Amino acid sequence: MRAARFDRYGPAEVIRIEERAVPEVGDSDVLVRVDASAVGVTDAVSRSGTPWFARLFFGLRRPKYPLLGTEFAGTVERVGPGVTRFAPGDRVFGAAEVGAGATAEYVVVGEHAAVAHAPDGLDAAHAVATVDGFLTALPFLRDAGEVRPRQSVLVNGASGTVGSAAVQLAKHLGASVTAVTSGPNAELVRSLGADRVIDYTRQDFTTERDAYDVIFDAVGKRSFGACRRALTAHGIYLTTVPTGAIMLQTPWTRLFRGGRRAAIAFTGLRDSRTKGVELEQLAALVESGAFVPVVDRILPLDELVAAHRRVEGGHKVGSVVIAITDAAGPADASAADAATADDSREANGAPA
Ligand SMILES: NC(=O)c1ccc[n+]([C@@H]2O[C@H](COP(=O)([O-])OP(=O)(O)OC[C@H]3O[C@@H](n4cnc5c(N)ncnc54)[C@H](OP(=O)(O)O)[C@@H]3O)[C@@H](O)[C@H]2O)c1
Repeated sequence: MRAARFDRYGPAEVIRIEERAVPEVGDSDVLVRVDASAVGVTDAVSRSGTPWFARLFFGLRRPKYPLLGTEFAGTVERVGPGVTRFAPGDRVFGAAEVGAGATAEYVVVGEHAAVAHAPDGLDAAHAVATVDGFLTALPFLRDAGEVRPRQSVLVNGASGTVGSAAVQLAKHLGASVTAVTSGPNAELVRSLGADRVIDYTRQDFTTERDAYDVIFDAVGKRSFGACRRALTAHGIYLTTVPTGAIMLQTPWTRLFRGGRRAAIAFTGLRDSRTKGVELEQLAALVESGAFVPVVDRILPLDELVAAHRRVEGGHKVGSVVIAITDAAGPADASAADAATADDSREANGAPA
């Protein structure tokens, strides 16, 4: 089978596509023929080895996990003798363990890992685009932010993979949502449910006062210090990006519960069985129309280097998807695609 790998940290060009054996299937494993995979910021970080502290996890001197890709959508090819949850032919989506190598023609996952039946009515390319954003935004908003109906939630970086999922989830949790992005993405985030949009190139939301119960900085661009006064008296600031400051502020502000707080979470490290259950919830949300995929572009496996470059640019709109097979789906199939910025419309084959 074809699989993406890299053997040393470096720019996107260190990636190569190699032929390797189809992985073995254990007693409780599911072998998935992958139709589509996604490239996210974590893939780019694991490949480049930057920022440096990422190497504490991905390998200090050289990569511990040379196979690329975690999210996948495809069809069950074979199951181990102990598997009851899936059968050959089932359409599935999920997130493999780091290092399993989901940007490949086949991937193996445990039956009770982060895998679920894919939502009806969505092709693999659009199904895979929902996984990372949902599995990241959900624990931030539901668990760390404890978002409740009628609360005021601001999402910074609302047009990215995590941010676009957060806007939809915060709405689903009953909050009033302010989305921060740049002008060209305003219509997209409004279509995802944002009640109010702030163009960060024109207006600085941190100058507001006592405005938000939750500020979720999905792209880690603004510090707790900058956002503190825009929070309500008991508000919480959440960020996806680790810094020295947030690692101290998280325990420190928890000690003084009652005031404004700050928190970071590491959602990828959660129990994969829990993620599997959450993926079932995601499939139901997608089928009900409450959650839509946002696809930046769909590229073939041979253009994986270009996909990594796009991700590193920091301006993708939703998820960058790799079509492994022709069954991944048409390049511009969702309503959300149509509302994304000009360059992604162009990449999806529509006029800019
Ligand atoms: N802690 C965890 O467990 C965890 C888990 C998953 C991901 N992450 C992290 O979460 C972060 C976000 O990931 P992602 O995939 O959502 O990122 P992404 O898709 O690359 O984010 C891109 C979006 O960010 C917007 N953006 C760029 N600069 C901005 C700014 N200054 N202010 C507001 N918006 C801005 C861009 O909009 P414009 O083009 O309009 O600027 C673009 O649409 C990454 O750093 C990733 O490593 C953390």
